[in-house]
Amino acid sequence: MSALAHAAPADALRVTDLRTGFGANTVLHGVDFTVAEGEIAAILGLNGAGKSVTMKTIAGVVPAWAGSVDFFGTSMTKLPVEDRVALGIAHVTQGRQVFPELSVEENIRLGGYLIRRKDKSRYARTLAAMYERFPRLGERRDQPAGTLSGGEQAMLALARALVSEPKLMLVDEPTAGLAPVVVDELAEALAQVNRDGVTILLVEQNVPFAMRLAHRALIMQRGQIVYQQRVDEIDHATMVQALGIGRLLDAPARGAEPDAFAPPAKKRAAPRKKPPASKKPVAKKKAEPAKKKTVAPAKMPAKKTAAKKRAR
Ligand SMILES: Nc1ncnc2c1ncn2[C@@H]1O[C@H](COP(=O)(O)OP(=O)(O)OP(=O)(O)O)[C@@H](O)[C@H]1O
Ligand SMILES: [Mg+2]
Repeated sequence: MSALAHAAPADALRVTDLRTGFGANTVLHGVDFTVAEGEIAAILGLNGAGKSVTMKTIAGVVPAWAGSVDFFGTSMTKLPVEDRVALGIAHVTQGRQVFPELSVEENIRLGGYLIRRKDKSRYARTLAAMYERFPRLGERRDQPAGTLSGGEQAMLALARALVSEPKLMLVDEPTAGLAPVVVDELAEALAQVNRDGVTILLVEQNVPFAMRLAHRALIMQRGQIVYQQRVDEIDHATMVQALGIGRLLDAPARGAEPDAFAPPAKKRAAPRKKPPASKKPVAKKKAEPAKKKTVAPAKMPAKKTAAKKRAR
């Protein structure tokens, strides 16, 4: 191991005491976490926990009421979306939201508008690289996006984000509604993006998918990160408790995996750009008092109850 391997990794993203909401309803009650450069971090949590609002606040779509979002050491908390995109943040929204009437290429162009404005030939190269990475999109470049399959739309949403040449990609529930074979393809595509140097913050309901892809898992409950751990050091019982019994019921139905959180064999083969960047911080976390690891009892509130609690 070289001496460099011991150097503390840079934080691509640092979210500190982030608070926001809508009207009188506070949704984020002080969210704290970091994502190291080169890492894939996954936020897991029940419906309504505030995962998407966290992503939107980082992307600049929802304004922060308090707290800060730093990107490679620079505060972005007050920046408009466009400036965040220019700095290197891309957001693949929940539900993918491709423009169905526009062609595949027109959709991609929307993601690359900043680069295209600055340098058309660079955009052309990036677009060509995108079609190389996703050949099916190349074949369907003139087809209305609304006619693509769900899996192809998922790839299009990724391509639209990637064409802005991001350093950090926020990817919100990319597997929702996709068949297992497409989920595998998506996992490989995201792993490749990460190997190419893009840091990823992922939100997922599909726990096995997230555990297979991510280096670190963060669990969100009612607008706060209540637990975080490297995936290969995960405390399964705590995860099960933090995620609630519903997660348990979902996962075994997928087949052979006896443990919802046991990463499938493929996981180890999934190539990564570099090892999880946060050896030191994790060691620190482990030494922290019980507070960080304290989670709610296994019976998690249903969405409505959670909403009521949040409104308190
Ligand atoms: N635009 C909005 N206006 C009012 N309330 C909102 C808005 N967006 C989100 N919320 C509320 O904020 C809370 C958190 O929503 P969020 O979308 O972040 O949940 P989530 O963790 O992403 O859930 P899911 O897993 O279902 O996607 C919910 O109670 C939701 O109703
Ligand atoms: Mg969501």
